[in-house]
Amino acid sequence: MTYETILVEQRGAVTLITLNRPKSLNALNSQVLEELIVAFGAYEADASQRCAVLTGSGEKAFAAGADIKEMADKAATEFYTGDFFSRWTSHLVKTTRKPWIAAVNGFALGGGCELAMMADFIIASENAKFGQPEIKLGVAPGMGGSQRLTRAVGKAKAMDMCLTSRMMDAVEAERSGLVTRVVPLADLLDEALKTAEVIAGMPPVAAIANKEMVNAAFEMTLDQGILFERRVFQILTATEDKAEGMAAFIEKRPGVWKGK
Ligand code: CAA
Repeated sequence: MTYETILVEQRGAVTLITLNRPKSLNALNSQVLEELIVAFGAYEADASQRCAVLTGSGEKAFAAGADIKEMADKAATEFYTGDFFSRWTSHLVKTTRKPWIAAVNGFALGGGCELAMMADFIIASENAKFGQPEIKLGVAPGMGGSQRLTRAVGKAKAMDMCLTSRMMDAVEAERSGLVTRVVPLADLLDEALKTAEVIAGMPPVAAIANKEMVNAAFEMTLDQGILFERRVFQILTATEDKAEGMAAFIEKRPGVWKGK
């Protein structure tokens, strides 16, 4: 497929996907979101690709939200019958079982913040700004913001951001647990790609399992989650990569993974 609103490239075992509508601050229109579904589907299906990084082009924005100009004239019935936003969320979060990182360079607002929060984790540049300003448009988050932001930063900050539209800067975002680390803008892509390479170098079945376990913490009770973790751990002991990983440790050499 030829992409028009995103750029996709493979760097070794890492797929780099760049939102590429810098004049609109990478606003997420339907085309971007459809192209993302295809790009993430291709990443998921390609066994040579072990981690992905999603970032925004330009220095100003990761994504300034769903495309307001596209939504302005859309009828409520279209939003409702088309179940607007549901496909993207399910593809990027549920169908994409392999790991991916959001490298947030600048504004991540509304759907942009929600898209970043769909990633397994966020690395932010020093100029990053996160927000759910939908209230100013007479609406509210629609791609998971009220739920994922609240789980990430807690009720007080999520309420503050949703009700006042206040943006959170990178320092506060790291302090609040929304992002894992903050780096200078010039280093952001390198840092995200290097981190993705580390993940890409891990046993791939175990990578999917680790991701699935952490995500289960948001869906299950503690007892259920711990049982799920133990069962998945036990299943992993049947993999060839487990035998290799433990042999490699004992023999003091790097492991060579088969993904089996
Ligand atoms: N949709 C469409 N276009 C957008 C956009 C968006 N979300 N955000 C920015 N743009 C466009 C602007 O219209 C402008 O285009 P023109 O040059 O053609 O006028 C261009 O990007 C540059 O933006 P600004 O001139 O506004 O840049 P700024 O530096 O003055 O301000 C900003 C930057 C604070 C991010 C401001 O653009 C802004 O507030 N954007 C909207 C943020 C927002 O409300 N996001 C939530 C959208 S709704 C949503 O996402 C729903 C959901 O939950 C899924």
